[in-house]
Amino acid sequence: MAEIDILENKRIVLGVTGSIACYKAIDLASKLTQAGANVDVILTRSAQEFISAITFRSLTHRKVITDLFDAESEDPIEHIALAKNADMIVVAPATANILAKMKYGFADDALTATILATTSPIVVAPAMESNMWANNATQENITTLIKRGVKFIGPVEGHLASGGSGYGRFESVDSIISGIQNILEQTTDLKEKHIVISAGGTQEPIDAVRVITNRSSGKQGYALASAAVSRGARVTLVTAPTALPDPPGATIVKINTAREMLKGVTDAVKDNGDALIMAAAVADWESDNQSKNKIKKTAGENTMSISLKQTPDILKAMSDEKIIKIGFAAETENLIENATEKLKEKKLDMIVANDVSSKDSGFNVDNNRVVILDKKGSKTELPLISKLQVADHIMDRLSELL
Ligand SMILES: Cc1cc2nc3c(=O)[nH]c(=O)nc-3n(C[C@H](O)[C@H](O)[C@H](O)COP(=O)(O)O)c2cc1C
Repeated sequence: MAEIDILENKRIVLGVTGSIACYKAIDLASKLTQAGANVDVILTRSAQEFISAITFRSLTHRKVITDLFDAESEDPIEHIALAKNADMIVVAPATANILAKMKYGFADDALTATILATTSPIVVAPAMESNMWANNATQENITTLIKRGVKFIGPVEGHLASGGSGYGRFESVDSIISGIQNILEQTTDLKEKHIVISAGGTQEPIDAVRVITNRSSGKQGYALASAAVSRGARVTLVTAPTALPDPPGATIVKINTAREMLKGVTDAVKDNGDALIMAAAVADWESDNQSKNKIKKTAGENTMSISLKQTPDILKAMSDEKIIKIGFAAETENLIENATEKLKEKKLDMIVANDVSSKDSGFNVDNNRVVILDKKGSKTELPLISKLQVADHIMDRLSELL
C-alpha cells in the first residue's frame, strides 16, 4: 500500500451497491478509516441484502445511510450535506445498475441523489459478471461517465462468483486504496489556487443586430474550468456566449466583446490570481465605426465595407502580472511555428496549439488533438482525446508550474 497521509482527515463517501463483492467493501471501509479518513457509508437497498449497516457503523464509527427518507435523521437533507463536504465519492463495488443510473442522472435513492448533487471527484470500482461488463449498454455507460470525468479503478480479470473466470472481478482492496490516494493527490493539487480561465468566441458588434464572431464553442475552456474545480482550485471562468451549461463550482463572468473580456480577466487576475489560461477565441478585430441602429441596405449598392481596428491584446495587457500564463493557438497552417512565435511574443509559460482545420478536433467538437509547448522548449504531442482529458493534462502541467 502507498503512503497513507493523503487520506488523513479526508471525507470519503463510500457508496456500496448490490454486488456479491460487497463483503470486500467492509475491508475497504476499515482500511480507509484506519488511514485517518472519515468514511460515510451509503448502502443501496440491494447492498443491504448482502451486508448490514451495523458492520460498517462499527468499523467507521459513523452513521451509515440506508434511506433517502430517514425521518430519524438529524439533517433531513443529509445527502446534500454529504455531497458538498465530501473530498471524494467512491462507489465500491459498483454494479452495472448504478453505472446506468449515474449515466442518466437518476436520484431515486440516497446514493444516486448524493452523486448527482456533488462537485467532488467520483471514483468507481465496478464488480460484475463478465457478460454484464462486456455488454454494449454497460460499455456505453462507462464511456459517457469517463467523458464526464468519473474515474474508474478496475475491474480486473480473474475468478468470478458466477463460476469460471473473466473480466469484471472487483479490483483488490489495496489497489483501490492506492488508486484513491493517487486521485486524491491529483484532485487537491490546485487547492487554494485561483485559476482564471477564458472561454468561447467573443462577439464584436457591427450594428444594433449584427456581430463578428467565430466558431469557438467554448467546450475546451469549460472543460478546463471543470478540471480545475475538481482539483480543488478556485476558478473564475470569463466566458463569451456559448450554448453550454455553467460548470458547477466555478464563478462565472459573462461577457460579449474582447474589451469586456479584458475587463473580466483583469478584475479576476487582480483578485489574487495565480494563473491565467486564455482558451477563448478572442476576436482580433472590432468595427471601427459601430452603428447604433441596424445598417440598412442601400438601393443600387451591391457591396459595403466595414472598417476594422484591432481589439486590445489581453495576454499582452497581463505582461506585468506575476502569474502563470497559458495561451492557446488555434491555427490552420504552420501550427508549431506560429504557436512558438506566440509563446515568445506574449511571454507565456506554456501554449497549447491545435490545428482547427481538421474535422475531428478543434472548434465545436468534443475532442481535441493538441501540442503543448513550454518556454523551456519542451514539446508534448497528445493524441486525439476528449477535451476533458486535454484539460487534465494541462492541469497536470499547471500544477507543476505552480
Ligand atoms: C446474488 C447476487 C449477486 C449479484 N452480484 C452482482 C454483481 O456482482 N454485479 C452487478 O452489477 N450486479 C449484481 N447483482 C445484481 C444487482 O444486485 C441488481 O442489479 C440490483 O438491482 C443492483 O442494485 P443497486 O445498484 O441499487 O445496488 C447480483 C444479484 C444477486 C442476487
